Amino acid sequence: MKKLLWIVLLFAIALAFPVSNLFIKRAPDPALRAHVKDPLLEKVVSIFEQKCLDCHSDKAVLPFYAKLPIASSIIAKDIELGTERLNAPLECFGPVPASEAALAKIQRVIELGSMPPDDYRLMHWGSGLTGGDKAALMAWIRATRAKANGAVDARDPIYARALLPLAAPAGLNADKVALGRKLYHDTRLSGDNTLSCASCHDLRKGGTDQAQFSTGIKGQKGGINAPTVFNATHAFVQFWDGRAADLQEQAAGPVANPVEMGAKWEDVPAKLKPDKEYVDAFAKLYPEGITKASITDAIATFEKSLVTVNSRFDQFLLGKADALTADEQDGYRLFLDDGCYKCHVGQAMGGKSFEKFGLHGDYYADRGSRTPADDGRFSVTKKESDRHKFKVPTLRNIALTFPYLHDGSTSDLAKVVKLMGRHQLQADIPDSDVQLMVKFLGTLTGDLDGKPLK
Ligand code: HEC
Ligand code: HEC
Ligand code: HEC
Repeated sequence: MKKLLWIVLLFAIALAFPVSNLFIKRAPDPALRAHVKDPLLEKVVSIFEQKCLDCHSDKAVLPFYAKLPIASSIIAKDIELGTERLNAPLECFGPVPASEAALAKIQRVIELGSMPPDDYRLMHWGSGLTGGDKAALMAWIRATRAKANGAVDARDPIYARALLPLAAPAGLNADKVALGRKLYHDTRLSGDNTLSCASCHDLRKGGTDQAQFSTGIKGQKGGINAPTVFNATHAFVQFWDGRAADLQEQAAGPVANPVEMGAKWEDVPAKLKPDKEYVDAFAKLYPEGITKASITDAIATFEKSLVTVNSRFDQFLLGKADALTADEQDGYRLFLDDGCYKCHVGQAMGGKSFEKFGLHGDYYADRGSRTPADDGRFSVTKKESDRHKFKVPTLRNIALTFPYLHDGSTSDLAKVVKLMGRHQLQADIPDSDVQLMVKFLGTLTGDLDGKPLK
């Protein structure tokens, strides 16, 4: 009898946590609602508040037992990892709408049913996502995604997907585009008149130089692979480490970079002035005439026109079912099933977030060297958690933009897909799946100025 009492008592104590969690609700936090304007987002905030923010906010108010010895270390680790992957108050409920990358990651955990983690659900009864929660989260994801892409109707089935067809750019001033095109190809922007933007971002080479590292003036070699300028307009920041906010700011960089074009901005307008075509074009388009600001604005406008629409994948997304072969469609499915889309997201299939290269395993030790270029975002913020974080590269026209990765270490796409599995997804992707994904990646080559890229 006494034994039975003990069992009942122990059982009651064991149940106390999960049962109490069934009744203890997190109090609504007004700070989270500062930017909430519609009932859908309000619902999403409430779901996060009750079921997610314990681990996805650095300001989470935790229940009393979070201070107990064993619980505290488990909880601290969860919060560290959880906020690193998704700091929800910052990334989802701040002044700007959630990024497409944050949305894709949330969509991924809904699809997998992986959040909240099992051990948490065991201790927090009622914390699992209900069908209604999932529907609300998906509705919010679709609406935010549609808005970011200028769509009129968020119910369009396309917005249920994280990958979107590239849309032709609208509203660009055609004269500025033409002026920018000329400047982009003009070697007078370099110190010794030998290099133009096109030297390293050749429009006939996928917008790159197809070299591991670029050659700047006087034969100097750079230390990081030149990314493509195609679809760069879709990136949330420019450069691997995001040190330029937009294309105009970016364009000022290479001209004055001593190992790239090696010019002085003060000298550039004077070098262009003898060219009557420039003088006339600038006078027509820019009241200030030929300046650093007007030159970089024209180049940036030209770059905004470099959107490579109409790839076979885009045709497929827009409803042409036979635009992809059976193998390519299988590769697309694997790309989704394996979770590549949570980083390679949106119209450009990348460019929407910084992600650590080497979430799992040590890529740099495997490669056998370390260089300053490996620091990534760290070189801008000096925050240790930003080391090895890079702006996710676009996968558009990937068949043409070899060699790959920030270190330009390989032109073998199959090898890169394998590396992505190992280091980004902790998965050993079977070779047959890798081959199918490579076939799929080959369908991402689009058109420029109405002609297929080669
Ligand atoms: C007990 C702590 C905890 C709770 C509660 C929790 N998470 Fe997580 N979450 C984590 C940890 C730890 C990670 C990183 C490891 C991983 O991906 O499994 C993570 C990762 C994630 C990621 C990134 C996944 C990726 O692939 O990059 C998303 C998105 C996410 N959680 C969403 C949620 C949502 C939505 C909820 C609420 C429904 C939630 N989490 C509840 C701990 C938690
Ligand atoms: C000598 C070769 C070279 C020249 C010339 C050059 N670039 Fe680059 N470009 C690079 C390299 C290398 C990077 C990557 C640097 C980094 O991220 O740190 C880059 C990055 C970029 C990016 C960022 C793309 C992204 O995805 O982040 C854009 C846009 C760009 N260049 C446009 C231009 C323009 C416009 C010009 C002419 C004004 C130009 N480049 C001249 C080599 C060059
Ligand atoms: C957690 C985020 C993440 C996931 C998941 C991910 N990638 Fe990446 N991917 C990156 C980052 C970051 C880079 C750039 C790495 C570098 O160069 O340092 C990259 C680079 C690439 C490149 C090379 C692009 C170029 O131009 O250099 C390819 C191809 C690629 N990924 C394909 C995939 C495929 C296929 C999958 C799924 C199997 C995948 N990625 C999953 C973040 C991710």
